[in-house]
Amino acid sequence: MNLAFFASGGGSNMQSIIDACKSGDIDAAPSVVISNNSKCGAIERAETEDIAHYHLSTKTHPDPAELDAAMLDALKQHDTDLIILAGYMKKVSPAVVHKYSGRILNIHPALLPKHGGEGMYGINVHTAVIAAGDKESGASVHLVDEEYDRGEVLGQITVPVLEDDTPETLAARVLEKEHVIFPDTIKRIASGEIKLA
Ligand code: GRF
Repeated sequence: MNLAFFASGGGSNMQSIIDACKSGDIDAAPSVVISNNSKCGAIERAETEDIAHYHLSTKTHPDPAELDAAMLDALKQHDTDLIILAGYMKKVSPAVVHKYSGRILNIHPALLPKHGGEGMYGINVHTAVIAAGDKESGASVHLVDEEYDRGEVLGQITVPVLEDDTPETLAARVLEKEHVIFPDTIKRIASGEIKLA
């Protein structure tokens, strides 16, 4: 199974999955990294790991149809079976969602269906969890469809929310668990334990 990563930031989730592939824990191969941000940690990690990588964005392709075509071309060239959104800050275009329907995974740093949807990303999520007075938060790995954070949840992991948590301390606790549940869910897909349609 060939994995394509879409990432915009540090790429620590992507790294946890690459490491699990390298150790043989996940029976899959990281094949390509696509980023809208040419200078992010995820691109640096792709270079270090010697994985093909592309900067594809409205900067490189101002015409949305051309951007779609370039993405689909890169995905095809690398025989992509599964697309992993690992901290990708853009909405995946309908053309890509349609082509890879049921084969795109995202991680969301909360217990979906709570605290998802438009505008719910990064620190906003943890701020909302604390404001709601939740005693528990966590991370959810889910399938991606054309709506934000609405696809089927395939894996979830919880963390406690502590009395003195700030959004930043909660984010750090959740991120540690993201690095567990994301590789674990992909492992279960690669082994056939979770069957994708
Ligand atoms: C994670 O918190 C993830 O939940 C969110 O973006 C962050 C990505 O971190 N979607 P990294 O780039 O994997 O380090």
